Amino acid sequence: MTFFRILNAVFAASALSLSAHAAGGAKHAHAPEDGWSFASPVGKLEIDSVQRGFQVYREVCASCHGMKLLSYRNLGEPGGPFYDAMYPNANDNPLVKQFAAEDEILDPVPNDVGDYDYRPARPSDRFRSPYANDQAARAANNGALPPDLSVITKARGHGNDGDGASYVYSLLTGYLDPEDIETRTGEDGLPVNVITFDDDYFHGELVQPLGQYYNPYMPGDVSAQWSGDPRHVPYGGFLAMPSQLTDGRVDYMDGTEATIDQMAYDVAQFLQWAGEPKQSQRKSLGLPTMLYLIFLAGLLWFSYQRIWRNVGH
Ligand code: HEC
Repeated sequence: MTFFRILNAVFAASALSLSAHAAGGAKHAHAPEDGWSFASPVGKLEIDSVQRGFQVYREVCASCHGMKLLSYRNLGEPGGPFYDAMYPNANDNPLVKQFAAEDEILDPVPNDVGDYDYRPARPSDRFRSPYANDQAARAANNGALPPDLSVITKARGHGNDGDGASYVYSLLTGYLDPEDIETRTGEDGLPVNVITFDDDYFHGELVQPLGQYYNPYMPGDVSAQWSGDPRHVPYGGFLAMPSQLTDGRVDYMDGTEATIDQMAYDVAQFLQWAGEPKQSQRKSLGLPTMLYLIFLAGLLWFSYQRIWRNVGH
């Protein structure tokens, strides 16, 4: 295993140096303290974290965000968080069946007037969508559309080095403490939310537009709402998603303590898996292939030496 560890460290270090660049006006997303186990060509996802992340998705995010590229049975396929060798066909996996059956989805009823009705989902169904369509989703979210999360780590990342997961992790943990946001009454009598910055570099007040929330990792530009030095505008932007995580927001099935950091870490890792469900198998195939090719190269070199041994240049 030590060999893999060393290889892992080498690859992780090279991935880190490649991703060291700034994105827009946002603070650069950072990985969790100990990095991501999967962020190297030989690294793997932590399956128990992916399992917990699924729980966070279901209990916190799924009320606003769909994942329409995923079917319930993907959860029980090889590389999936609930894969069980006892059930090679994920449709038979009792956990997968249970997760599906807990969701009600809208489906056409077999009659000749084209009715739709709710029924419990089956493993072969796509994940339940929280809204009937994008208009309904916007209407429920102040005009903003919660993006589908199926491939969000790919959409917000650059490769498989984990920066998409780091973005999700940083965004979820990056919201300010509610205590740092002060609600005042504006001139028109409406409440305004004000954030005061008073460090050496950022000094001034930032007014949060109604229904918008400040996050230093959200790409954007807050200069129009900033009263301080225009050359030192805080990083980040506003988004229509309020902070989602509070300590103990979920009750983890495996007993892990549900801190904000832990939930963000787990859900980011779950979304990393969802973006590429076959990643683990692809990687476990990669290393033997490389070793085989190295062996083959050696063999070819020696045969070359032998075949041309007595031939003058
Ligand atoms: C109450 C509804 C709601 C819940 C619950 C919610 N979100 Fe969101 N989320 C939104 C909305 C609305 C947006 C779009 C914000 C915008 O574009 O201004 C959004 C945007 C995002 C984005 C994209 C930000 C970007 O770069 O554009 C990510 C990532 C995200 N949410 C992740 C999550 C995760 C993970 C959870 C669960 C822990 C979650 N959200 C829970 C409503 C929600």
